[in-house]
Amino acid sequence: MQLTADGKLKHFLTVEGLPPLLLEEILDRAQQFVSLPNKAQVQAPLLRGKTVMNLFFENSTRTRTTFELAAKRLSADLINLDIRNSATTKGESLLDTIRNLEAMGCDMFVVRHPSSGAANFIARYCAPHISVLNAGDGKHAHPTQAMLDMLTIRQQKGDFTPLKIAIVGDIKHSRVARSQIHALTTLCAGEIRLIAPKTLIPEGIEKMGVSLYTEIEEGIKDVDVVIMLRLQHERMKSALLPSVREYYARYGLTEERLKLAKPDAIVMHPGPVNRGVEIDSHVADGPQSVILQQVTNGIAVRMAVMSMVIGTRAQGDDA
Ligand code: NCD
Repeated sequence: MQLTADGKLKHFLTVEGLPPLLLEEILDRAQQFVSLPNKAQVQAPLLRGKTVMNLFFENSTRTRTTFELAAKRLSADLINLDIRNSATTKGESLLDTIRNLEAMGCDMFVVRHPSSGAANFIARYCAPHISVLNAGDGKHAHPTQAMLDMLTIRQQKGDFTPLKIAIVGDIKHSRVARSQIHALTTLCAGEIRLIAPKTLIPEGIEKMGVSLYTEIEEGIKDVDVVIMLRLQHERMKSALLPSVREYYARYGLTEERLKLAKPDAIVMHPGPVNRGVEIDSHVADGPQSVILQQVTNGIAVRMAVMSMVIGTRAQGDDA
């Protein structure tokens, strides 16, 4: 559903199933936006006259703001819909809200929603000229986050094929981890390791071609990239951990543990970071951390994706 008949990106709902060339196109375009000398001068008018609506049904700092900056740098008109003060809290259905926003002349929806599948639903039922970008739906997918992570890895390490990458923490509730695994697999990363207590590893995930570790000391050995995840308490239906203190004792990324990875390993985190829960402050702020580079790359990746989906529309293909 997210590709046009000739294979161009129409919506960006998930990384799963997208061809490697398309992921590379996103990275290459994003890198061009990163490399532009003066960011204030970018203002590439690729979205001039277009209206982008941010529909965030869940809290967000980085994702919402970087989508907003990306739209503005491409000269779009940007509306941040304040869902908490919108009519959806008065019982209006999601589809009715969408129809009304369409009637105002919207070209692109950026959607974050607590339910898995919400962005796909909107893409299926919105007007054919509109593109939908998934900014995180439940536990399902967060494709632009995965791509900004891939851009950061590529900037730091170059080729994906020799890399050993560890994803550590609450894999079970993480849409970020799922999208990262799809992206890394598509880009032919050497080895993907998941490190977590058994209660935070979703059943059957090894089918995605990853190896599983329950001890961080073992899993982190000789890796090139360590991706830390937050404990997503808001998505846990029952207590899956004895205590946060015990979790930190067994899985927290400390300076000692980081020494087990390659000496030039990079440390990543999609944010928000919970210091002293999944990561020590010294590591989060240390020389191997690229956490803020990830945030910066978020703008370029979102500019890339926005310009690609609008490009497909310009060719008049609304498949
Ligand atoms: C992530 C998310 O919302 O899925 N954060 C983000 O988009 N930067 C991860 C999280 O909430 O832990």
